[in-house]
Amino acid sequence: MVGALLRTFAQDAEKANRFAATSDLDLLADWNHQLLREEALRNPMRVPEFRERMKGWLGGDYTAVIFGTTADPAAYALYREKTAEVYLRPLFVRRDRRREGIGRMAVAILRNQLWPRHKRRIVEVLTANAPPMAFWRSIDYKDHCLTLEILPEQDGEESAAADVRPRAAQQQPPPPGSR
Ligand SMILES: CC(C)(COP(=O)(O)OP(=O)(O)OC[C@H]1O[C@@H](n2cnc3c(N)ncnc32)[C@H](O)[C@@H]1OP(=O)(O)O)[C@@H](O)C(=O)NCCC(=O)NCCS
Repeated sequence: MVGALLRTFAQDAEKANRFAATSDLDLLADWNHQLLREEALRNPMRVPEFRERMKGWLGGDYTAVIFGTTADPAAYALYREKTAEVYLRPLFVRRDRRREGIGRMAVAILRNQLWPRHKRRIVEVLTANAPPMAFWRSIDYKDHCLTLEILPEQDGEESAAADVRPRAAQQQPPPPGSR
C-alpha cells in the first residue's frame, strides 16, 4: 500500500502529493501553528516548539502527507494508524487554497490509497468550528461523540452554590420563616 503511494508521490515529487520528509518540518510546524491559532486554542507554543513536537510525532507512529507540489504545497494530513482504526489529526488546507476541493481530494487519496478499508477512520473536530464540521459531514463522516467540558476558569460559584438537597425536597416550598 505504502509502496503504491510512494510510486505515485515520491518519484515525481515536483508534481505530486508525497509523504513529508525531515526537510518539511519547518513548513509543517508553521501550518500546525496557524491551525491552532485558527482554532483559537490557548497553546503558548512557538513555531520552533511545534517543529520539535512534529519531529517527535513523525519519528513515532504518525505519518504526514503533503498535498500539492513541492513548489506550491497546499495542505497536509497527519495521521496515526492503530490496530483497528486510523486517527487523523489534523487535515489542514492553506487558507488561500480553501474551497477548491483540495480537502476532499486529500481525504479521497488517504481513503483510497493509504488507509486500509477495514479500519475505522476517526477525526476530532471542535464543535465551535463550523467549517470543518461542514466539511467532514459533506464527505461521509458521521457524528459519533461529543466531548463536554468545564474549563478551570469557568468552574466558579455556580457549581459550588448548587442545591444539593434531594430532588423531592427541592420541589417542596421552603419552610415558613426560611426566607
Ligand atoms: C476543513 C478544511 C480541511 C476543508 O478543506 P477545503 O479544501 O476548503 O474543503 P473542500 O474545498 O474540499 O470542500 C469540500 C466540501 O466541504 C464543505 N465545506 C468546506 N469548507 C466549508 C465551509 N467553510 N463552510 C461550509 N462548508 C464547507 C462543502 O460542502 C464543500 O463542498 P463545496 O465546496 O462543493 O460546497 C479546511 O477548511 C481547513 O483546513 N480548515 C482549518 C483546519 C481544520 O479545522 N481542519 C479540520 C480539523 S481536522
